[in-house]
Amino acid sequence: MRHLIDIVDLTVEEIDSILEKAGDIIADGAKYAHAMDGKKLATLFFEPSTRTRLSFEAAMLELGGTVLGFSEAASSSAAKGESVSDTIRTVGCYADVIAMRHPKEGAPRAASIRSIVPVINAGDGGHCHPTQTLTDLMTIKAEKGRFSGLTVGLCGDLKFGRTVHSLLNALSRYDDMRFILISPEELQVPDYITDMLDERGLSWTATNSMDEYMEELDILYMTRVQKERFFNEADYIRLKDTFILTRAKLERAKKDMRVMHPLPRVNEISRDVDDDPRAAYFRQVYYGKIARMALIMWILEAAK
Ligand code: CP
Repeated sequence: MRHLIDIVDLTVEEIDSILEKAGDIIADGAKYAHAMDGKKLATLFFEPSTRTRLSFEAAMLELGGTVLGFSEAASSSAAKGESVSDTIRTVGCYADVIAMRHPKEGAPRAASIRSIVPVINAGDGGHCHPTQTLTDLMTIKAEKGRFSGLTVGLCGDLKFGRTVHSLLNALSRYDDMRFILISPEELQVPDYITDMLDERGLSWTATNSMDEYMEELDILYMTRVQKERFFNEADYIRLKDTFILTRAKLERAKKDMRVMHPLPRVNEISRDVDDDPRAAYFRQVYYGKIARMALIMWILEAAK
């Protein structure tokens, strides 16, 4: 039985194999139209989502499988006090694989211990979001052609942004990557992440300026300030518009730089950036579905 709770649950070779399969799905999707015939995916979302839940469901449907689940805790027996462990043990009787999102860090890990089917973490609090990372890696591979020798700027809420934590963890396992961590002081990346970059010998710089390194970036990964993780609304209001990427700011960027964003966006990317060919965030949404198709096939194969 394999679960995907953290991106480090996959080796680099396994990530590369999933991405290779994803590439093949793009090349010849019809080949996979019945790959999951008779299989069921349950999406258990205790926290809101548009992309992750719907892309998981679209992925399973495109593979010939079926889907069931809930999109909010209030419509499940969690509202009556059921534990995630009991929920997951129950849903394992109905589905072959479970994708679970939960506001509490560690909830999918705790649930997986009791699960009789593979569990995929679809985002747990401010901790990690491994399937967004597969999406991001696929986007980088498609748009830049490699995972080495890139200067990657990550901008915004690097403290609570779980996609940032998972992406740094994944990219730092490849060679010769350099990271520019752009955030207000209060929203800097947690120490355990920078310690990990140091242990792996990666070059990183923390700055509170979006402009300072703009000319050097190969990728600018923008993130939303995570309102739902703040204890104090005044702090959120003070910090939420610290960085706004505009078309004017992009003038200094490389012509082949790519702007990524896990979405949803609030104000951090101006709408006038959307038509710039460097804006890759809606292509990223498409890659998310393909990456999840490849992952579902991989994890059910691994569970055999
Ligand atoms: N990127 C992402 O996780 O989006 P959703 O919250 O809409 O699923």
